[in-house]
Amino acid sequence: MLTKEEIVYWLKEDNPDLLQALWQNAGLVRQNHVGAAVHLRGIIEISNYCQRRCRYCGINATNKTVKRYLMSIEEILQVAQTIQGLGYGTVVLQAGEDFRITCDWVLELIKRIKNETGLAVTLSLGERHPDELEAWHWAGADRYLLKFETANPLLFKKIHPPKNKGVWKNRVDILKFLKEIGYETGSGIMVGLPGQSYEELADSILLFKELDLDMIGNGPFIPHPGTPLGKDNQQRKNPVQQVPNDALTTCKVNALTRIVCPDVNIPSTTALATVDRQQGRESGLMSGANVIMPDFTPLPYRQWYDIYPGRMLLYQTPEEQHALLVQMLRKIGRTVGQGAGASLNYLKRTERVFDS
Ligand code: 5AD
Repeated sequence: MLTKEEIVYWLKEDNPDLLQALWQNAGLVRQNHVGAAVHLRGIIEISNYCQRRCRYCGINATNKTVKRYLMSIEEILQVAQTIQGLGYGTVVLQAGEDFRITCDWVLELIKRIKNETGLAVTLSLGERHPDELEAWHWAGADRYLLKFETANPLLFKKIHPPKNKGVWKNRVDILKFLKEIGYETGSGIMVGLPGQSYEELADSILLFKELDLDMIGNGPFIPHPGTPLGKDNQQRKNPVQQVPNDALTTCKVNALTRIVCPDVNIPSTTALATVDRQQGRESGLMSGANVIMPDFTPLPYRQWYDIYPGRMLLYQTPEEQHALLVQMLRKIGRTVGQGAGASLNYLKRTERVFDS
């Protein structure tokens, strides 16, 4: 187990030869624990309505220039069928905190996806009421993603204007609740938020461990010009402590996360692929990741899910996108994961498999 000091040391390391050892070590841990398989999940961004005012996010409620949409159940099912047709085991349903999305609507959606495709269902619908989270799990939702974004409560508060009670403690409480009621539970952070320090990244990695999470997704913070954090460039104000919001730092966070939490599922995120279009996906996989979540949201909706700028909008058909991914995996000696691809951490903590 790494100490906080060791994690900070590695986060600040810039010597390419030494970093090579970090990637190798993370790769070894990944191989020994979760193997060569890369699990593919199809994401559908089902709504971009949001009642929150997160200061980094392009679809926050105050951004009046965004065209808003909510997909219909039929539209979502059609995409889910495509995802299943490509051989994927999981669909991820993601949205802003949209209360047009009612509890019953999600219940119907989950039941229909389960009946008509058999896919594992991951929900990423924000801070919803515990009763809803529980009802959705009982209806068949397998996993839930809710990022805590930063382990620093003060920074969390700064970038998340409160709704009625939107303080950091609640998000961590929700994560604990999700685990308790049986979800495979995921979280993650943004890397390079204005005002974020190396110590704080280390605290986040240690919090992943403490919470015993099953899935951990990290991406670089990407300034969005239509948001408060995209406008004022606070990053330059404190150059010594400020963590860079680049691909390299994100890969270091991924590698250290893999070493500290060896059994978790880690996606090579779309945000990482956005800041490094050539190598991003691949370098995520080379630094500890074992999941890719390609975006299958149909156009024009995908374009309107504008959480940060530069997301890959080039329209490839799902089949083309899939073929390119498989080609890349083959090139780097990895295989396509089969089945639902549950997190080993989840299987162990729920005693579905035992430590060997
Ligand atoms: N840069 C990077 N990631 C972002 N997200 C939202 N806005 C940004 C941004 N500007 C990520 C957050 C959030 C998820 C929906 O998208 O991690 O949890």
